[in-house]
Amino acid sequence: MNRILIGAQWGDEGKGKIIDLLARKSDIIVRYQGGNNAGHTVRFSDKTYILHLIPSGILHSGKVCVIGNGVVLDPEAFFEEVDVLESKGINVDGRLFVSEQAHLIMPYHKIMDCLREENLKKSEMIGTTKRGIGPCYADKMARVGLRAGDLKNLGYFKDRLESVLEEKNAVLRKIYGHPGISFKEVYKHCLKYRKRLLGFLTDTPTYLYNASRKGKSILFEGAQGTLLDVDHGTYPYVTSSNASVGGAIAGSGVSPTVIDRVIGVVKAYTTRVGEGPFPTQFPASLMKQIQTKGEEFGATTGRPRRCGWFDAVIARYSVRINGLDEMAMMKLDVLSGLPEIKIAVAYKLGGKEFSDFPPSSCDFSRCQPVYETMKGWNEDLTGVRRWKQLPPNARKYLKRLESLMETPISVVSIGSKRSQTIFL
Ligand code: IMO
Ligand code: MG
Repeated sequence: MNRILIGAQWGDEGKGKIIDLLARKSDIIVRYQGGNNAGHTVRFSDKTYILHLIPSGILHSGKVCVIGNGVVLDPEAFFEEVDVLESKGINVDGRLFVSEQAHLIMPYHKIMDCLREENLKKSEMIGTTKRGIGPCYADKMARVGLRAGDLKNLGYFKDRLESVLEEKNAVLRKIYGHPGISFKEVYKHCLKYRKRLLGFLTDTPTYLYNASRKGKSILFEGAQGTLLDVDHGTYPYVTSSNASVGGAIAGSGVSPTVIDRVIGVVKAYTTRVGEGPFPTQFPASLMKQIQTKGEEFGATTGRPRRCGWFDAVIARYSVRINGLDEMAMMKLDVLSGLPEIKIAVAYKLGGKEFSDFPPSSCDFSRCQPVYETMKGWNEDLTGVRRWKQLPPNARKYLKRLESLMETPISVVSIGSKRSQTIFL
């Protein structure tokens, strides 16, 4: 069984927990897009781990983890994560592979990410994680990127870096008034990680092809969420990769014909970190309440996440874009104690009401949500283990979401622990 797991909102849906549950049933776990902008929180053996780059499946001994060609890899962040894992007794040797075709996040990408944001007007800021993700993907597309496999041939790597750096420094100096970054410094940085990184490099598309032919079960671990997808999200307030289903194919080199199921993850409300339109955002006081109760602070940057009501328009859009077969509904417990709960079922714009996500970002930023209001519940859900134990209003809420998303909910999460999960 080969599954793709996709965030169906703006990221931070709780993918880490579901990946952990599915990893037990899989042989290989693959990250295929994004980089260390992701933050996947997993509770494992009573310890909490936050993984940014390495697939969350690494916590399970005996599972193989792959960082695919579509990922952008910061060697410094990668080894920091490897070292933390090893210090906690999790050995990655022989079961963590990095694609030779994965692009390297270089020091100048991180500098550029920061400078670009700082130079934008407040209204134009993206609120990136400043990990160099956007500039690295931009270089990939502009065909001036450096790939992990390029490190194999030092002569080639050196020549290419030299010529790329010339342009980077011109931009840094002329546009941003930055002193630039010396070849020696960047080259030294790369050499520091080179030898160790070479040990992880693999022809991952071939590896995955052979594994799937042998009947191994592969889990594709999406990062970010569909509304952050560079094509299908709320552009330009998006990340620079395909966080929707297509990214799994292009970013790992497997064929869509080997995929059996696509699973979406949504939170029982909506959050968004960074800038960009968010029609169902809560008023300030409710925002504070849910932020605190839901611990809605970024796992990567620590920034508070903006919170809002469940938006069924974007969830249904995600179902369509990704062909989601089923949904995992996360953090339902956070909504306990609210007298009423709203769901955005449509948008209003210029006197018209419609229930499909508008492709124009300009339109989207002016949409007003049309709400349906449901009764809340007071009971604490964190101890619930079965559907029947859920308060009737919580069940009604889930049933309504299911019908609005036109997709079955197969998992309901009511806490971060593995035991706090209801399977339907
Ligand atoms: P996980 O995998 C939530 C957001 C940033 C910013 C925009 C662009 O944990 O769900 P980038 O640094 O990627 O160029 O920033 O995307 N963003 C995320 N938001 N969860 C994530 O990952 C995110 N990764 C990036 O906040 O708005
Ligand atoms: Mg996160």
